[in-house]
Amino acid sequence: MLPWFKNGQFPLYLAPMARVTDIVFRQFCKEQGADVMVTEFVQADALTREDPKLWETVDFTDEQRPMGVQIFGSNPSTMAEAAKLLEERLQPDFIDINFGCPADRVICMDAGSSMLRNPSKVGRVVHAVASAVPGTPVTAKIRTGWDDDSIVAREVGHIVENEGAQALAIHGRTKVQGYSGEANWSLIAEVAEELTIPVIGNGNIRSAHDVIRIREHTHCAGLMIGRAALGYPWIFRDIKHYLTHGIVPEPPSVSERWETILNYTQTIMARPFRQQKHTDLRWMRPKLIALTKSMNSSRKIRGALGNVIQFKDLERVAAEHIALFDQ
Ligand SMILES: Cc1cc2nc3c(=O)[nH]c(=O)nc-3n(C[C@H](O)[C@H](O)[C@H](O)COP(=O)(O)O)c2cc1C
Repeated sequence: MLPWFKNGQFPLYLAPMARVTDIVFRQFCKEQGADVMVTEFVQADALTREDPKLWETVDFTDEQRPMGVQIFGSNPSTMAEAAKLLEERLQPDFIDINFGCPADRVICMDAGSSMLRNPSKVGRVVHAVASAVPGTPVTAKIRTGWDDDSIVAREVGHIVENEGAQALAIHGRTKVQGYSGEANWSLIAEVAEELTIPVIGNGNIRSAHDVIRIREHTHCAGLMIGRAALGYPWIFRDIKHYLTHGIVPEPPSVSERWETILNYTQTIMARPFRQQKHTDLRWMRPKLIALTKSMNSSRKIRGALGNVIQFKDLERVAAEHIALFDQ
């Protein structure tokens, strides 16, 4: 069994989120109490082609362990080759396979959630990867199915378990649902009940209260938090505190939140690879929008972020917002 599930531990995962859960963001989530983290997905054959940008994406520090690297693709031998390279170079604590991404560019390659239309192919990919890296645990992340008429979470769950996956994360929505509508927690509960490997539930967990409710309803071995952590990475601290003391701590002040965002930005910009490529902050706007989304007047901030080019511009946005809301 993966060590972070042993002795009744109930790990909170930070969900993999492309272009947002970078190494610096992950570090902050770790400090706030995220137990297990996974890099955003990277294309297996691009890893084997030595794309330096992707190798930067999967980088992590020892402090962030247990860390998984998530790969996607549809060709079992390419996936196996990428997994071997990852094992040799990074020794991640696990390699996670993405069978959930709904993006067109991924579906076109017959990867991500497209694979759910062909459960036996899912099995071949898991088998190939697990056989290629016997020293590294392999896990999978799925959605419930392609659409409401093709719900395959139970079938795929059994397949990945039989082919060597050591845990399964389920985002409780179909591909067609995208990111809206309700997550199907009853189905996640059924799969968790049937499988012997740990099932990690995912979909719309927004608060410490959600965690308690969902844990009781599903008996999942752990839960995974995505978008709620983007705008409010303190959610891990809140949940941990609530599980131990039964109360949710006071949220960080507006100044504290901006301080975190400014530190985050400076740290990212100081990373050697990024510095060579990006001389200003324009490329960071999507990340900054995500980080400020849950703040008061987030639409106004979003507008102001549209004019941010240099770090001092971001400091000005922060100062104006703090003056308005931090009394
Ligand atoms: C911006 C963004 C990027 C995402 N990238 C990935 C990814 O790289 N790999 C993956 O398995 N899921 C990805 N997801 C899906 C999340 O991991 C998660 O399953 C989904 O957001 C549902 O959880 P939530 O309701 O807590 O956000 C992404 C989601 C978002 C919003």
